[in-house]
Amino acid sequence: MKVVITAGPTREYIDPVRFLSNPSTGKMGFAIAEAAVKAGYEVVLVAGPVSLPTPRGVRRIDVVSARDMYRAVQREIKDATIFIASAAVADWRPKYCAKHKLKKGGMCNILELTRNPDILKSVKAPIKIGFAAETNDVLAEGRRKCREKRLKFIVVNDVTKRGSGFAVDTNEVSFVYASGEVKAFACMSKRKVAATIISAAAKFIA
Ligand code: CTP
Repeated sequence: MKVVITAGPTREYIDPVRFLSNPSTGKMGFAIAEAAVKAGYEVVLVAGPVSLPTPRGVRRIDVVSARDMYRAVQREIKDATIFIASAAVADWRPKYCAKHKLKKGGMCNILELTRNPDILKSVKAPIKIGFAAETNDVLAEGRRKCREKRLKFIVVNDVTKRGSGFAVDTNEVSFVYASGEVKAFACMSKRKVAATIISAAAKFIA
Protein backbone atom coordinates (compact mmCIF):
# COMPACT_ATOMS: atom_id res chain seq x y z
CA MET A 1 0.00 0.00 0.00
CA LYS A 2 1.43 3.34 -1.08
CA VAL A 3 1.76 6.56 0.94
CA VAL A 4 2.73 9.88 -0.66
CA ILE A 5 4.08 12.56 1.69
CA THR A 6 5.06 16.18 1.03
CA ALA A 7 7.67 17.85 3.25
CA GLY A 8 9.72 21.00 3.68
CA PRO A 9 9.28 24.47 2.20
CA THR A 10 8.93 25.51 -1.41
CA ARG A 11 10.96 28.27 -3.08
CA GLU A 12 9.36 30.77 -5.41
CA TYR A 13 12.06 32.52 -7.40
CA ILE A 14 12.07 36.26 -8.11
CA ASP A 15 15.30 36.12 -10.14
CA PRO A 16 18.13 33.52 -10.35
CA VAL A 17 19.47 34.44 -6.89
CA ARG A 18 16.37 35.43 -4.88
CA PHE A 19 13.25 33.63 -3.73
CA LEU A 20 10.24 33.74 -1.41
CA SER A 21 10.14 30.90 1.11
CA ASN A 22 9.60 30.00 4.79
CA PRO A 23 11.61 28.40 7.63
CA SER A 24 10.25 24.83 7.30
CA THR A 25 13.04 22.26 7.80
CA GLY A 26 11.08 19.19 6.68
CA LYS A 27 11.64 17.36 9.99
CA MET A 28 7.97 16.48 10.49
CA GLY A 29 7.48 15.07 6.99
CA PHE A 30 10.71 13.08 7.08
CA ALA A 31 9.68 11.59 10.46
CA ILE A 32 6.32 10.59 8.93
CA ALA A 33 8.10 8.93 6.00
CA GLU A 34 10.26 6.95 8.43
CA ALA A 35 7.21 5.88 10.48
CA ALA A 36 5.34 4.83 7.33
CA VAL A 37 8.24 2.61 6.18
CA LYS A 38 8.32 1.02 9.64
CA ALA A 39 4.58 0.31 9.34
CA GLY A 40 5.22 -1.53 6.05
CA TYR A 41 3.99 1.00 3.45
CA GLU A 42 5.62 1.83 0.12
CA VAL A 43 6.67 5.44 0.74
CA VAL A 44 7.22 8.31 -1.70
CA LEU A 45 8.50 11.53 -0.14
CA VAL A 46 8.18 14.69 -2.24
CA ALA A 47 10.60 17.10 -0.59
CA GLY A 48 11.23 20.81 -1.02
CA PRO A 49 14.77 22.16 -0.47
CA VAL A 50 15.86 20.74 2.91
CA SER A 51 19.13 19.39 4.29
CA LEU A 52 18.01 16.07 5.75
CA PRO A 53 19.16 12.56 4.86
CA THR A 54 16.63 10.32 3.11
CA PRO A 55 15.16 7.77 5.57
CA ARG A 56 16.00 4.17 4.69
CA GLY A 57 13.43 2.54 2.40
CA VAL A 58 11.93 5.83 1.20
CA ARG A 59 11.75 6.89 -2.47
CA ARG A 60 12.51 10.63 -2.43
CA ILE A 61 11.67 13.14 -5.14
CA ASP A 62 13.33 16.55 -4.72
CA VAL A 63 11.43 19.60 -5.91
CA VAL A 64 11.89 23.36 -5.62
CA SER A 65 8.69 25.30 -6.29
CA ALA A 66 5.04 24.68 -5.38
CA ARG A 67 4.29 23.94 -9.03
CA ASP A 68 7.10 21.32 -9.15
CA MET A 69 5.67 19.77 -5.98
CA TYR A 70 2.17 19.76 -7.47
CA ARG A 71 3.36 17.98 -10.64
CA ALA A 72 5.38 15.38 -8.70
CA VAL A 73 2.42 14.62 -6.42
CA GLN A 74 0.01 14.32 -9.37
CA ARG A 75 2.34 11.78 -10.99
CA GLU A 76 2.65 9.67 -7.83
CA ILE A 77 -0.85 9.85 -6.39
CA LYS A 78 -2.75 7.67 -8.87
CA ASP A 79 -2.04 4.35 -7.11
CA ALA A 80 -1.65 5.77 -3.57
CA THR A 81 -3.97 5.01 -0.66
CA ILE A 82 -2.77 7.74 1.70
CA PHE A 83 -1.65 11.31 1.03
CA ILE A 84 -0.10 13.27 3.90
CA ALA A 85 0.66 16.95 3.21
CA SER A 86 3.17 18.26 5.72
CA ALA A 87 4.93 20.66 3.36
CA ALA A 88 4.83 24.40 4.01
CA VAL A 89 3.80 25.26 0.46
CA ALA A 90 4.08 28.91 -0.61
CA ASP A 91 0.56 30.08 -1.44
CA TRP A 92 1.88 32.76 -3.81
CA ARG A 93 4.71 33.10 -6.31
CA PRO A 94 6.10 36.09 -8.17
CA LYS A 95 4.16 36.64 -11.38
CA TYR A 96 7.41 36.88 -13.32
CA CYS A 97 10.82 35.38 -12.59
CA ALA A 98 13.55 37.60 -14.06
CA LYS A 99 16.01 35.80 -16.34
CA HIS A 100 18.94 37.81 -15.02
CA LYS A 101 19.76 39.05 -11.52
CA LEU A 102 17.76 42.18 -10.78
CA LYS A 103 19.83 45.29 -10.08
CA LYS A 104 18.62 47.55 -7.30
CA GLY A 105 18.54 50.54 -9.63
CA GLY A 106 16.14 48.77 -11.94
CA MET A 107 13.89 47.29 -9.23
CA CYS A 108 10.49 48.71 -8.57
CA ASN A 109 9.00 48.64 -5.09
CA ILE A 110 6.10 46.35 -5.96
CA LEU A 111 6.40 42.60 -6.37
CA GLU A 112 3.47 41.22 -8.34
CA LEU A 113 2.28 37.85 -7.06
CA THR A 114 0.02 35.11 -8.37
CA ARG A 115 -1.61 32.15 -6.57
CA ASN A 116 0.00 28.71 -6.48
CA PRO A 117 -2.12 25.56 -6.82
CA ASP A 118 -3.45 24.09 -3.57
CA ILE A 119 -1.90 20.63 -3.76
CA LEU A 120 -3.81 19.05 -0.88
CA LYS A 121 -7.16 20.40 -2.04
CA SER A 122 -6.75 19.33 -5.66
CA VAL A 123 -5.34 15.85 -5.11
CA LYS A 124 -7.63 12.81 -5.00
CA ALA A 125 -6.71 9.96 -2.65
CA PRO A 126 -8.83 7.67 -0.45
CA ILE A 127 -7.22 8.97 2.77
CA LYS A 128 -6.00 12.59 2.86
CA ILE A 129 -4.36 14.12 5.93
CA GLY A 130 -3.25 17.73 6.26
CA PHE A 131 -1.36 20.02 8.60
CA ALA A 132 -2.13 23.50 9.82
CA ALA A 133 0.33 25.65 11.76
CA GLU A 134 -1.73 28.48 13.18
CA THR A 135 -1.27 31.43 15.51
CA ASN A 136 -4.95 31.97 16.40
CA ASP A 137 -8.37 30.26 16.14
CA VAL A 138 -6.41 27.02 15.85
CA LEU A 139 -9.31 24.54 16.08
CA ALA A 140 -11.74 26.62 14.00
CA GLU A 141 -9.12 26.96 11.25
CA GLY A 142 -8.45 23.22 11.46
CA ARG A 143 -12.15 22.42 11.03
CA ARG A 144 -12.47 24.77 8.07
CA LYS A 145 -9.44 23.33 6.26
CA CYS A 146 -10.51 19.75 7.02
CA ARG A 147 -13.88 20.44 5.38
CA GLU A 148 -12.63 22.50 2.44
CA LYS A 149 -9.84 20.06 1.52
CA ARG A 150 -11.94 16.94 2.24
CA LEU A 151 -9.55 15.41 4.77
CA LYS A 152 -9.97 12.49 7.16
CA PHE A 153 -8.26 14.66 9.75
CA ILE A 154 -5.89 17.60 10.04
CA VAL A 155 -2.94 17.90 12.41
CA VAL A 156 -3.09 21.37 13.93
CA ASN A 157 -0.62 23.14 16.13
CA ASP A 158 -0.29 26.56 17.69
CA VAL A 159 3.11 27.81 16.53
CA THR A 160 3.18 30.50 19.22
CA LYS A 161 3.56 27.75 21.87
CA ARG A 162 7.04 26.71 23.00
CA GLY A 163 8.15 23.31 21.66
CA SER A 164 5.89 23.63 18.61
CA GLY A 165 6.49 24.53 15.01
CA PHE A 166 9.50 25.06 12.81
CA ALA A 167 13.03 23.76 13.46
CA VAL A 168 12.36 22.03 16.78
CA ASP A 169 12.31 18.28 17.49
CA THR A 170 9.01 18.35 19.38
CA ASN A 171 5.44 19.30 18.57
CA GLU A 172 2.23 19.81 20.54
CA VAL A 173 -0.58 18.87 18.20
CA SER A 174 -4.29 18.10 18.03
CA PHE A 175 -6.03 15.99 15.39
CA VAL A 176 -9.20 17.68 14.13
CA TYR A 177 -11.47 15.11 12.43
CA ALA A 178 -13.97 15.71 9.64
CA SER A 179 -16.76 15.03 12.19
CA GLY A 180 -15.47 17.94 14.28
CA GLU A 181 -14.05 15.63 16.95
CA VAL A 182 -10.73 16.80 18.42
CA LYS A 183 -7.96 14.68 19.92
CA ALA A 184 -5.41 16.78 21.82
CA PHE A 185 -1.97 15.40 22.62
CA ALA A 186 0.72 16.53 25.05
CA CYS A 187 4.01 17.84 23.66
CA MET A 188 5.95 14.92 22.16
CA SER A 189 8.83 14.23 19.80
CA LYS A 190 8.14 14.66 16.06
CA ARG A 191 9.00 10.96 15.74
CA LYS A 192 6.16 10.09 18.18
CA VAL A 193 3.78 12.51 16.43
CA ALA A 194 4.65 10.77 13.14
CA ALA A 195 3.92 7.28 14.50
CA THR A 196 0.61 8.53 15.96
CA ILE A 197 -0.42 9.99 12.57
CA ILE A 198 0.40 6.74 10.76
CA SER A 199 -1.63 4.61 13.16
CA ALA A 200 -4.58 7.07 13.07
CA ALA A 201 -4.50 6.95 9.24
CA ALA A 202 -4.49 3.13 9.24
CA LYS A 203 -7.85 3.13 11.05
CA PHE A 204 -9.49 4.48 7.86
CA ILE A 205 -8.31 1.57 5.74
CA ALA A 206 -11.32 -0.63 5.08
N1 CTP B 1 -1.20 22.96 1.21
C1 CTP B 1 -0.93 22.46 -0.05
N2 CTP B 1 -0.77 23.34 -1.10
C2 CTP B 1 -0.85 24.66 -0.90
C3 CTP B 1 -1.12 25.18 0.38
C4 CTP B 1 -1.27 24.29 1.43
O1 CTP B 1 -0.86 21.23 -0.23
N3 CTP B 1 -0.70 25.48 -1.94
C5 CTP B 1 -1.41 22.01 2.34
C6 CTP B 1 -0.36 22.05 3.41
O2 CTP B 1 0.68 21.13 3.15
C7 CTP B 1 -1.16 21.69 4.66
C8 CTP B 1 -2.54 22.23 4.39
O3 CTP B 1 -2.63 22.37 2.96
O4 CTP B 1 -1.28 20.29 4.82
C9 CTP B 1 -2.88 23.51 5.05
O5 CTP B 1 -1.94 24.48 4.70
P1 CTP B 1 -2.07 25.98 5.21
O6 CTP B 1 -0.95 26.79 4.65
O7 CTP B 1 -2.27 25.96 6.70
O8 CTP B 1 -3.47 26.37 4.58
P2 CTP B 1 -3.93 27.26 3.40
O9 CTP B 1 -4.82 26.42 2.56
O10 CTP B 1 -2.78 27.93 2.74
O11 CTP B 1 -4.88 28.30 4.13
P3 CTP B 1 -4.67 29.76 4.75
O12 CTP B 1 -3.69 30.50 3.91
O13 CTP B 1 -6.08 30.32 4.68
O14 CTP B 1 -4.22 29.57 6.19
